[in-house]
Amino acid sequence: MTTIETEPPAWQQAGDAWGHAASDWAYLFEPYARDAIEHLFSSMDVGQGTDLLDIACGSGFAIARADRAGASTAGIDASTALIDIARRRAPDADLRAGDMFRLPWPDASFDVVTAVNGIWGGCDDAVAEAHRVLRPGGRIGLTFWGPGHALELRDWFIALGSSTPSVGEEMMALANIGAPGVVEAMLEGAGFTDVERTAAPSILEFPDQEIAWRALRSPGLVVPALRDVGESELRERLMSAVEHLRAPDGSYRIVNELTCVTARA
Ligand SMILES: C[S@@+](CC[C@H](N)C(=O)[O-])C[C@H]1O[C@@H](n2cnc3c(N)ncnc32)[C@H](O)[C@@H]1O
Repeated sequence: MTTIETEPPAWQQAGDAWGHAASDWAYLFEPYARDAIEHLFSSMDVGQGTDLLDIACGSGFAIARADRAGASTAGIDASTALIDIARRRAPDADLRAGDMFRLPWPDASFDVVTAVNGIWGGCDDAVAEAHRVLRPGGRIGLTFWGPGHALELRDWFIALGSSTPSVGEEMMALANIGAPGVVEAMLEGAGFTDVERTAAPSILEFPDQEIAWRALRSPGLVVPALRDVGESELRERLMSAVEHLRAPDGSYRIVNELTCVTARA
């Protein structure tokens, strides 16, 4: 009898990559979204009694914040390792490992759906799913990098993209969501109205080079470059890209802005 080996679906492969250094992502990188989450939650009135779903929720940073505000929370992410951390951060939330393109909740389940750097260019079907699970009049809030905003991580992105050309191309396609009119067309195509773009600071701080490297190697997009270039060469390339941001005491403060978009179902 022959055994047919099948590749895991794309969302599980993405989840494996994003979980490759789950604690470093959760505790060293994920605070990048703190200000954007505050900004989105306040502009969408997330609070006591809000039914909120966070798509591509990672290790639950946004969900834990919504919990503290009194919301009733749910989240989905492709990475089981990140979902395990989210369960510790938000024990009462309905957290699932799964695919944002096939949400496992019925129609009209939520008042608010968020995706913090989770929905990108080409993710139109995930936007359609978000619309399906929102109640009429419910709100969606998205964030993503740039364009046109401060991005001190820019040289790091460039060094990463040039280390593995397929990742460079993937990053360009994902970042296309920020091009003029693109996110608006994605949202309006799914039936959303009242699309508004704003921005919020996104600041990363590390006490020394070792911790900065652990943080900056933790995103899933780094995995192919680690494989292609090797750990020590990649470290050299990526840390050189942020060397100018290192203070005399060895610490880093990396100042960026996230585009924030809200719309109504
Ligand atoms: C940039 S991280 C953002 C995570 C989190 N929202 C945050 O801000 O830290 C992108 C996340 O998308 C998740 N992801 C990628 N593809 C996915 C899919 N098809 N379905 C669900 N989650 C997915 C990854 O596992 C990863 O946690």
